This record gives sequence, C-alpha cells and structure tokens, in this order.
Amino acid sequence: MTYTLTTPLYYVNDKPHLGSAYTTLACDALARFQRLKGEQVLFITGCDEHGQKIQRTAEAAGLSPQAHCDGVSAQYRELWDRWQISNNRLIRTTDPRHRQIVEQFFARVEASGDIVEGRQQGWYCVACEEFKDDPHEAKDPECPTHKRPLEWRDEVNLFFRLSRYQEQIEALIAQPGFIQPASRRNEVENFVKQGLRDFSISRVNLPWGIPVPGHEGHTFYVWFDALLGYITALLEEGDAPDLETALSRGWPAAVHVIGKDILRFHAVYWPAMLLSAGLPLPAKVFGHGFLTREGQKMGKSLGNVLDPADLLERCGRDAVRWYLLRDIPFGDDGDFQQQRFSDLVNNDLANTIGNMLNRTSSMARRWFDNAVPPASTATGSDHPLAQAAAQARTTVLQGLEQLEFRSAAEAALQLAIAANGFLNEQAPWSRMKQEGTRDQVADDLYAVLEAARITALLMAPLLPDLSERMLLQLGQSIPDSSATAQPDGAWLTQLEWGALQSGAPLPEPSPVMARLELSEPL
Ligand code: MSP
Repeated sequence: MTYTLTTPLYYVNDKPHLGSAYTTLACDALARFQRLKGEQVLFITGCDEHGQKIQRTAEAAGLSPQAHCDGVSAQYRELWDRWQISNNRLIRTTDPRHRQIVEQFFARVEASGDIVEGRQQGWYCVACEEFKDDPHEAKDPECPTHKRPLEWRDEVNLFFRLSRYQEQIEALIAQPGFIQPASRRNEVENFVKQGLRDFSISRVNLPWGIPVPGHEGHTFYVWFDALLGYITALLEEGDAPDLETALSRGWPAAVHVIGKDILRFHAVYWPAMLLSAGLPLPAKVFGHGFLTREGQKMGKSLGNVLDPADLLERCGRDAVRWYLLRDIPFGDDGDFQQQRFSDLVNNDLANTIGNMLNRTSSMARRWFDNAVPPASTATGSDHPLAQAAAQARTTVLQGLEQLEFRSAAEAALQLAIAANGFLNEQAPWSRMKQEGTRDQVADDLYAVLEAARITALLMAPLLPDLSERMLLQLGQSIPDSSATAQPDGAWLTQLEWGALQSGAPLPEPSPVMARLELSEPL
C-alpha cells in the first residue's frame, strides 16, 4: 500500500511565502517519518495555475498566463529544492496530462447525472477564487480574509449537484478520524448542517482554464480542476494520462494536509466529487492553523512578510524547521517571534543537544582511545536513560503518526535534557580524577552517547540535517528518509536501546549546531 500525502497545490499568483513553506515543511517531516517506518510514500506538492486570479496577475505583469506560471512554478521548484523537501511529485495544473485526467473525471460525474445548468449569482472573491456565503447584504462587501472588495457575478454556469450528497457527507465528517484536528470539525459540521447547495463548476468568458468538453464557452472552475491535480500527480513519468492508471499508483490519499482556509473544499466538495465519480475517499484531511508575525497577519501591505528563501539563507534549514515544528501546535494558529525563534534554536539545538553530544564525545575520545567506551550496566533496559529513551520513542512515534509535530519534537528534546541531567549528576570529569572509577565513567559516557544516538534518530524526520551531523559525529550510518522506503523496520530497530557498539571509533567532534545570532530584524 502506498502512503500518499499532499500539500495544497499553491496558487502561482506570487512567489512562495512562509505560509506555503510551513505546510510543505510539515508534510516533509511526515513523509520522512512514514518512509523511515518502511512505508512506500508518495509525497505530492504542486502548483495551481488556472483561474481568474492567475490570469489577472499575468496581465498586470504584461506576460502571457503560461509564461507567468512557468516563472512562478520554477520558483516553487527551486525553493523546495533548497529546503531539501523530499516531495516525489510537483504537479502543475497546466501539465497537458492533467487536462485529460480532468476530462475523464468530468465524464464520470456527468454520467452520474450530477452536472446541471444553472444560474450563478453571488459575491465572488477572486483572491480566494470562491463565492462567499451571503455577506450580510452589504452594499460593498469585502472578503473577510483578503479585505478586498467582492465582485458581483451573475452568469449561467454548469453546476455540480452537491445537494445530492448531503447524507453521505454528513456521515463522512462524523467519522472521528476524517477531519483533524477534531477542533476543526465543528466549523465544517455547521456548514453542512445548513444544507449543501449545488455549486458551479464552470465559468464563462474565462479563457485561462481547461475547456469543459461538450459545453462550448465554459472552462472549469479553478477548484474543480485543482483538486484533481492530486490525482494527476499520481501518474508516473511514462504513464499514459489515464484516470485508472493514475488511481492505481496511490489512491486514495492517506492525508491531505491543508490550511484551515481551504478545509471546506477538501472535507466537503472534494469528497462529494469523488463519490459522484465512484472513487474512494481520502482517509484524512488535516487543517492546520495560520502563522502570524509578532501578532500581526503577514501581508504585503504591512510589509512584514517573511520570505522563506531569505529565512533559509540567513538561518539555515534546521533552525526554521525546528521553530515551526517545535513551537506551534500543528492545527493551532501560531505567531512567528524573532526573539523566541533564536532563543529556542540556541537553547534546544545548540546548547542542549549540541553541547551534550560535543562534550560527551570529547570526554570519551580523550579517556577511551577515540572510541565508544565499554559498557557494563548501561546497555540494560533498566538504565534511567534507557527508560527515558523508551518513553521518548513512544511519544515521538505517536506524535508523528498524528501530525503532532510539537509533541514529537518536545519528546525528542526531552531525551537530550535527561541525558544532560544525567551527565551533570554523574560528573564524569570529577570521577575520572578519582581512583577505581574508570568502569563507571565508561558506563556513564556510553549511556549518554547512546541517548544522543537515539535523539538523533528520533530527530531524523524533523531535522534531517542536524540528525545526520549528530550521527556522523557518533560514527553511525545515516538513515535516508528522503527517497525510498527504508527496509521494513530498520529505523525502528535502530531506535532500540543498546545498539551503539562499544569500541566503535568516534570521529573528532565539531559543533553540530551553530548558534543563531540575528543582529538585524528578519
Ligand atoms: N490553490 C489553492 C489550493 C488548491 S489545493 C487543490 C490555494 N492555494 S494557496 O496558495 O492560497 O495556498 C493556501 C495554503 O497555503 C493554505 O491552505 C496553507 O496551507 C498555506 N498558507 C497560506 N498562508 C498561510 C499562513 N499565513 N500560515 C500558514 N499557512 C498558510 O488555496
């Protein structure tokens, strides 16, 4: 079975910002975790390139829509490369194969009798590409998200008969695991309870879209087309653009990870479309929260947007990943604060983890011939650090499985904290000055190095770079979480206490994590 996970397919109206990087980094951690467990992972991200918003942006830039999309999607590709995102696919909805998948899917929905003509009247937000629910009869209503005027629309469109799926959608969203976190379910339930209304799936006079077969002058509504990108993305390189083939490559998805802004599309419209086409439904939709900056919404007008490329350049991958995954409960809104960012990175990574490893490995090298010291009682499962490691392992595995990155990160850190505490209590540097304590010192250093090894392995999905540097410092092999599934269970076995080999050479230590010194505001 393939474990398929997706990020949203990002609009290419502008270059990527920290919000899109946030979702993608989290998905990357999840994808790496699943691979390390031995799952065959298909990690999909991509770009949503049709619709009015993109058409207008291209016009404003004096470019053809295609040229505009080529430029921005290349920026996404580069950014994900630089962040070393381990995505297996980057789908663009202007991919010619996508058009054929959309056509085949539409044919199924039409054959189910779910496409009807109707008149669409309402207030539309081009930035959301969405009709808004009755904006309280305001004269000049604004989009609550974008604070921009809504546009009045009145046109004859093709409609999808969403109303026919009321009961099935109610049953679906009542399933405990479908919408996560559970706190987000309410808002969807309330929307569904009001009664599902058919929604238009085509536009007239909008050339920048996929033409609807058999309906001259109509192009597909950008969301109808975009959601299907998740299926087109399943196709392998040489595959014919055939819906069945695509589905056989990894459908249904294990999880769609999205921001809370687009939950309705994923938890209501998309499942109904799939039901209509007679296709299986994704197992889970996870709607995470939104990032703000120093308490304010990030936006161009406030000039406080964090550019993920800049951030990477100035702070490095580990620091940003750590802060975003460790400080913000995935699911809740979170605020990016520069001081807290550098405090956490310096305390957790440079001090707690980095110093623990560095000083222990230096002592071991100095007193035990540049190698892992011999262990006597330290390999036992009743050693206090063995117990701390077992606890950390359980919590990290559970946390990652449930996309609770924060609790996973904290649990891994907790093990390093316990190891530091143990080291300070045992104070091998004083013991070493006494007679007859060499075995005890060896045992204690072994235990701390073993805790460091397990911390590094637990960190592998969250901070692959730091994890790698730690493991190299310990002379260990590096699990590759980026490309293929690990041989079943190898990583899980490595997480067992006592696998560190006494006598194995310890390379010369160098700091695994540089301190973050930000003299200028980001
Ligand atoms: N194109 C649609 C998605 C189609 S999926 C088939 C779209 N694109 S988007 O570019 O606007 O991306 C929205 C997503 O970006 C959010 O759902 C969220 O994952 C991420 N974020 C955008 N701004 C964000 C923050 N300020 N904070 C956190 N994530 C944010 O919607």
